[in-house]
Amino acid sequence: MPRFNRLLITGAAGSLGGVLRKGLAPLAKTIRLTDRADLGDAAPHEEIMPAELGDFDAIMKVVEDCDAVVHFGAAPVEKPWAEILESSIKGGYNVYEAARRHGIGRVVYASSIHAVGYVRCEEGADTDTPHRPDTLYGVSKCFVEDLAKMYFHKFGIESALLRINSCFPEPTTRRHLSTWLSFDDLMQLVERCLLAERLGYTVVYGISNNRERYFDNDRVRHLGYMPRDNAEEYREKVEANTAPGDPHADEVKFVGGVFCEYGHPDDD
Ligand SMILES: NC(=O)c1ccc[n+]([C@@H]2O[C@H](COP(=O)([O-])OP(=O)(O)OC[C@H]3O[C@@H](n4cnc5c(N)ncnc54)[C@H](O)[C@@H]3O)[C@@H](O)[C@H]2O)c1
Repeated sequence: MPRFNRLLITGAAGSLGGVLRKGLAPLAKTIRLTDRADLGDAAPHEEIMPAELGDFDAIMKVVEDCDAVVHFGAAPVEKPWAEILESSIKGGYNVYEAARRHGIGRVVYASSIHAVGYVRCEEGADTDTPHRPDTLYGVSKCFVEDLAKMYFHKFGIESALLRINSCFPEPTTRRHLSTWLSFDDLMQLVERCLLAERLGYTVVYGISNNRERYFDNDRVRHLGYMPRDNAEEYREKVEANTAPGDPHADEVKFVGGVFCEYGHPDDD
């Protein structure tokens, strides 16, 4: 029995959007999909509404009549400032403000490990660790996390801020042995955030049950998220295919990995 009448997925043409498009189908009578990229044909239970995240009027229409929003559309890595500003910062604001104006109670947002990228690996972090962004991309995730906090305290919109680590079909780098999030665990996490009786304002790390994970989700047991996959199963393969990094390099020292090595994206 679907729990929602209509669920909206932004960034639905993206790699994680594709996983959600399939996996969230049983939860709603109708799944509304939006992106600026091609979304293909709509299945009988789907509605397709192309839109630019930076276009407030378009996002108002896309959000209308939905019960909850799964907001995964954004610049997905470090990009020029103009793109971060338009897609991620303005886009994040447009989604929250449209949700407020349409009376939507819950948003699940794809934040990132890069909101805390300058945490040292041996330091570890929990969901109370203050922001330490490693890029303008990371700053955009911090902005939307804070925006979500304001929309919760002031307007009562509940949010899950998923600090997704590395969500790919399987781990392929040594860092992924700590940071991997499997597609199945991502699906479980998003589903838990949509179904939890009370979500409030919840920061949670999007990470599988990896032996060497940097982060702990102990304070967010109310979600009932129990990751089942473990990057350890891939260790032999990953170590055979990759050389150990320099332990003094920023990309090995910090949880943000190579993002901590990047300069300003607008420099030549
Ligand atoms: N994949 C990961 O490991 C990972 C890790 C941390 C966070 N995330 C976050 O998860 C989300 C999805 O990531 P992904 O890996 O699927 O990336 P992706 O690039 O495959 O998907 C992002 C989608 O957003 C859309 N988009 C971007 N700007 C837009 C705009 N201005 N208007 C409309 N649509 C726009 C793109 O067309 C794309 O389809 C992103 O917010 C990303 O920051 C992903």
